[in-house]
Order: sequence, then structure tokens, then C-alpha cells
Amino acid sequence: MRKLGLILTLLFLAVPPPASAQGQDSKLNFEGLLNQLLAPGPLTLGHDNLEHTHNDCLKCHEPAGGIPNTNCMACHKEVKAHVEARQHFHGLMSNKACIDCHKDHKGRNFDPMYINPKTFEHKLTGFELDGAHAKIDCTKCHTAKRPASKPARQTDISYMGLVNSCNKCHMKDDVHYYKGKFKQKECSLCHTTDKWKPAKPFDHAKEAGYALIGVHAKHKCEKCHTRRSKTDVRYDFPVETRQCLSCHLDHHKNRLSPRFRNGKCDVCHGQDTWKLSL
Ligand code: HEC
Ligand code: HEC
Ligand code: HEC
Ligand code: HEC
Ligand code: HEC
Ligand code: HEC
Ligand code: HEC
Ligand code: HEC
Ligand code: HEC
Repeated sequence: MRKLGLILTLLFLAVPPPASAQGQDSKLNFEGLLNQLLAPGPLTLGHDNLEHTHNDCLKCHEPAGGIPNTNCMACHKEVKAHVEARQHFHGLMSNKACIDCHKDHKGRNFDPMYINPKTFEHKLTGFELDGAHAKIDCTKCHTAKRPASKPARQTDISYMGLVNSCNKCHMKDDVHYYKGKFKQKECSLCHTTDKWKPAKPFDHAKEAGYALIGVHAKHKCEKCHTRRSKTDVRYDFPVETRQCLSCHLDHHKNRLSPRFRNGKCDVCHGQDTWKLSL
């Protein structure tokens, strides 16, 4: 049946319309009618203006048969951008043919992009739903409605358009006073998607460029990154505090010879205990 349809289509595409079909309008009418006869069924809403001339058919179909992705992407630029960047759902699925997932000719009200929210494997989008995210409704994150320019499924939500970035969605929850590059870092550097507390292990030397040695590694972040108040958990942290002296009292005052007085406690002390095993 499919084969027959295809052969008919190709025949039609090769043969120009008969001379009797004169004038632009009647030519279009004739073509439109023939197209509709040859096509397996009406195209979906959104493609409904693509069945008038054989050129319309050829926007998707190749004269020699087949429906390559490039034809679809000639119109669907947003999808094309994702495919070229190899990002997002369509970018990660680009080893498949568009028509593996998007059927057509099934009538105006056919939904060419149906997904079952209960079974949709979200990690295919490049963003896994785990932790707290696995327990919430799709519409908590996918808040945009489909715009009027997209006629199919008008009342439904629009899935496309989100990005895989914690910060994009969670800026409202940001309790920190990180500066510089840490302001831009993703929450996932220090948090999982389960809950905000406790934070996940943090590689201080790698991320902040300052190794926590000895006793320092055993203490809570708040020991050094002081909270603003008991209830305000925002951390302040001035850069000058790399020096031992900015956190520790000058125990020896001016009893040490001047060349040891500049706060370099680690010339003589380790970072586990002030006791010296001399
Ligand atoms: C928007 C893209 C699009 C347009 C425009 C389009 N088609 Fe199709 N056509 C499809 C898709 C998708 C299939 C299903 C292919 C599949 O399932 O393998 C299909 C299948 C067919 C088939 C069944 C044989 C085959 O190739 O699988 C015929 C015949 C056909 N189309 C004819 C037409 C005709 C005639 C027109 C012009 C009126 C037309 N099509 C316009 C997308 C399109
Ligand atoms: C000539 C341009 C054109 C071609 C070719 C074309 N489309 Fe479309 N398509 C549209 C327009 C216009 C809409 C309606 C709204 C929109 O912009 O998404 C649409 C709608 C859709 C929709 C419904 C989603 C929506 O936003 O309403 C899907 C899915 C889709 N096209 C897939 C395809 C696939 C797959 C192909 C190739 C087989 C294809 N299209 C070829 C222009 C085209
Ligand atoms: C693995 C299946 C799959 C493949 C392959 C696929 N799509 Fe989709 N596509 C979907 C699903 C599911 C949706 C609906 C969810 C969404 O909006 O992302 C969709 C949505 C769309 C939409 C509507 C997006 C919107 O604005 O809401 C367009 C247009 C589209 N696809 C075009 C294409 C084109 C063009 C290709 C080929 C390059 C393609 N798709 C390949 C599954 C697929
Ligand atoms: C915690 C937030 C969150 C929840 C909940 C969520 N999503 Fe998503 N979804 C995302 C993000 C973020 C992306 C974008 C990933 C990317 O492109 O890198 C996405 C992408 C998608 C896409 C691909 C859109 C496209 O074509 O690019 C589909 C389809 C989708 N989600 C469906 C669902 C469904 C169905 C549910 C409910 C079962 C759901 N999502 C729940 C965050 C969420
Ligand atoms: C597309 C939006 C979106 C993205 C991206 C996203 N989240 Fe969420 N996340 C939510 C929503 C919505 C909730 C539900 C609670 C709320 O509204 O804050 C949530 C809940 C959470 C919770 C539980 C909060 C609580 O109060 O119990 C944590 C922890 C979390 N997300 C961490 C992350 C991390 C880490 C990332 C990056 C890997 C991330 N989220 C990416 C939307 C998002
Ligand atoms: C450099 C590491 C780091 C980054 C990046 C980070 N956090 Fe935190 N966050 C922490 C630490 C450490 C705590 C304290 C955890 C505890 O008290 O157990 C914390 C605590 C929190 C808390 C709980 C506050 C409370 O006591 O109730 C929230 C909410 C939070 N972070 C949100 C965020 C959000 C949102 C982002 C991204 C915009 C983010 N964090 C990025 C390290 C980080
Ligand atoms: C013993 C003290 C100490 C402890 C404990 C500590 N830090 Fe730090 N942290 C520092 C010092 C000193 C710097 C400053 C490095 C610099 O300014 O270059 C710093 C810098 C940072 C920065 C960079 C701040 C910025 O704005 O540039 C982050 C983020 C950070 N620490 C997170 C943490 C987290 C998360 C924890 C708990 C797991 C923690 N720190 C525990 C001493 C500490
Ligand atoms: C950002 C602040 C900060 C800096 C910088 C710092 N420390 Fe500490 N250090 C602490 C905190 C907080 C403790 C935990 C005990 C306390 O509250 O005194 C501690 C504990 C210690 C202890 C163990 C004390 C004890 O009796 O348990 C030693 C030894 C020590 N630091 C040595 C050093 C040396 C040497 C340097 C310089 C290389 C240094 N510290 C830099 C904050 C800092
Ligand atoms: C030139 C070596 C030297 C330097 C530099 C030095 N110390 Fe000491 N520190 C000692 C010696 C020796 C002792 C043991 C004798 C004493 O108590 O005076 C000691 C003892 C201490 C003790 C008492 C330990 C105990 O037994 O309870 C503290 C606290 C201390 N130092 C802190 C510091 C701090 C803070 C710095 C940096 C500002 C520092 N030291 C720099 C040599 C040094």
C-alpha cells in the first residue's frame, strides 16, 4: 500500500499537470486535489498549508523517495540549532530520523509530538530527573504555554526551551554571598538535587585554590565562612583571610625575633595543633 502510494506520488511529481488545468487558481486546485488523493491522509495542523502544489510535497519528500532530516530542519530552525550543537533532546537524538518520531498524514488533529509523561525517559534530554526533581510535577519546571504561532496542542505546555542549569531555576534560593567566579558556579558544584543541607563534599583546594590542611579540613565551613547571623545563613568571606594571623591571635606578640613576626606561624607550627614536638 505504501509502495503504491509512493509510486503514484513519484509518477505525479514527474508528470506536469494536463493542459486543461489552465490559470494559476485552477492549476492549484487541480494539484491540491491530486495531492490529497495521493497522500495517505491530511497533514497535521501546522503543515496544513503544505499540500497545495507538488513543491509543497517536496518540502519534505525527496523526488527519488525518502524524507531526510535536512528537509524538516530547513523550516525548523530551533531544532536545527540543537542538532548542530549536539545539545538538548533533539541534539542528543540526532542519530535518528525525524520521521521515526514524527509521523504525518494522520489528519489535522493528530498530535505529531505526543509523549506520555509517565513513561518519558527524561535523561534523554541530557538532564536527569533525580532527587527532589523526580517527585515534582512536569509543570513545576515546564511552565511555558505553547505560543499561538504553534497551532498543535494549544492548551498544552511547551517542553522545549529550558536549559540544564541549576542556577537558572534556583537563583531565588541562593543564600550565599559568593563573589567572582563562584557567583557563576552551578549549585551542583556543592549540592545534590536531594536537599540543600548538608552540602556535598567540596574540594576546597581545587575549587577555591586554598587547601584545608590538618585540623582545618575537619571543621564545618561556617567556622571560617562566618554566617551573617544565626538565622541568616549567607556566608561572608573576605579574601585577606589566607594569612594565619587573620584568623588566629598573635600568641607570641613581639617576643619572637622580628623576622618571625609577620604572621607566618607555619614556619614553626603545623596545622593540627599549636603544641610543638620539639
Ligand atoms: C511536513 C512534511 C510532509 C509533507 C509536506 C508531505 N508529507 Fe508525505 N509523508 C510525510 C511523513 C512524515 C510520512 C510518513 C513516512 C513514514 O512513516 O515512513 C509521509 C508519507 C507519505 C506517503 C507514504 C509513502 C512514504 O513515503 O512513506 C505518501 C504517498 C506521501 N507521504 C505523499 C505525500 C504527498 C502527495 C504530499 C503533498 C501533498 C506529501 N506527502 C506532503 C511527511 C510529509
Ligand atoms: C515548509 C516548512 C516546514 C517543513 C518542511 C516542515 N515543517 Fe514542521 N511545521 C512547520 C510549521 C510552520 C509548523 C507550525 C508551527 C511551528 O512553527 O512549529 C510546523 C509544525 C510541526 C510540528 C508540530 C509542533 C508545533 O510546534 O506545532 C512538528 C512536530 C513538526 N512540524 C515536525 C516536522 C517534521 C518532522 C518535518 C519533516 C518531515 C517537518 N516538520 C517539516 C513548517 C514545516
Ligand atoms: C526520539 C524522537 C524524536 C526525534 C528523533 C525527533 N523528535 Fe522532534 N520531538 C519529539 C518529541 C517527544 C517532541 C515533543 C516534546 C518537545 O516539545 O520537545 C518533539 C518536538 C518537536 C517539535 C516541536 C517543538 C516545540 O516547539 O514545541 C518540532 C518542530 C520537532 N520536534 C521537530 C523535529 C525535527 C525537525 C526532527 C529531526 C531533525 C525531530 N524533531 C526529531 C521527538 C523526536
Ligand atoms: C526539575 C525540573 C524538571 C522537571 C520536573 C521536568 N523537566 Fe523536562 N526538562 C527540564 C530541563 C532542565 C530540560 C532541558 C534539558 C536540556 O535541554 O538540556 C527539560 C527538557 C525536557 C524535554 C525536551 C524538550 C526539547 O525538545 O528540547 C521534554 C520532552 C521534557 N523535558 C519532558 C518532561 C516531562 C514529560 C516531565 C514530567 C514527567 C518533565 N519534563 C519534568 C527540567 C524538568
Ligand atoms: C528547570 C528548573 C530546574 C532546574 C534546571 C533545576 N531545578 Fe532543582 N528544583 C526545581 C523545582 C521546581 C523544584 C521544586 C521546589 C522548588 O520549587 O524550589 C526543585 C527542587 C530542588 C531541590 C529540593 C529543594 C527543597 O527545598 O527540598 C534541590 C536540592 C534542587 N532542586 C537542586 C538542584 C540542583 C543541584 C540543580 C542542578 C543540577 C537543579 N536543582 C536544577 C527546578 C529546577
Ligand atoms: C561553593 C559551594 C557552594 C555552592 C556553589 C552553592 N552552595 Fe549552597 N551551601 C553550601 C554550603 C557549604 C552550605 C551549608 C550546608 C549545611 O549547612 O549543611 C549551603 C547551604 C545552602 C542552603 C541551605 C541554607 C540553610 O541553612 O537553610 C541553600 C538553600 C543553598 N545552599 C542554596 C544554594 C543555591 C541555590 C546555590 C546555587 C545558586 C548554591 N547553594 C550554591 C555550599 C555551596
Ligand atoms: C579553615 C578555614 C576554612 C574552612 C573550614 C573552609 N574554608 Fe572556604 N575558604 C577559606 C579561605 C582562607 C578562603 C579564601 C581563599 C582566597 O580568598 O583565595 C576560602 C575560600 C572559599 C571559597 C571561595 C570564595 C570566593 O568568593 O571566592 C569558597 C566557595 C569556599 N571557601 C567554600 C567553602 C566550603 C563549601 C567549605 C566547607 C566545606 C569551606 N569553604 C570551609 C577557608 C576555609
Ligand atoms: C580562615 C581562617 C583560618 C586561617 C587562615 C587559618 N586558620 Fe587555623 N584554624 C582556624 C579555625 C576556625 C580553627 C578551628 C579551631 C579554632 O576555632 O580556633 C583553626 C585551627 C587551627 C589549629 C588547631 C588549634 C587547636 O588547638 O585545635 C592550628 C594548629 C592552626 N589552626 C594553625 C593554623 C596555621 C599555621 C595557619 C596558617 C598557615 C592557619 N591556621 C590559618 C581558622 C583559620
Ligand atoms: C619561630 C617559630 C615560631 C613562630 C613563627 C610561631 N611560633 Fe608559636 N610557638 C613557638 C614555640 C617554640 C612555642 C612553644 C613555647 C611557647 O609557648 O612560647 C610556641 C607556642 C605557641 C602556642 C601555645 C601552644 C601551647 O602549648 O598551648 C600558640 C597558641 C602559638 N605558638 C601560636 C602561634 C601563632 C598564632 C603564630 C603565628 C602568628 C606562631 N605561634 C608563630 C614557635 C613559633
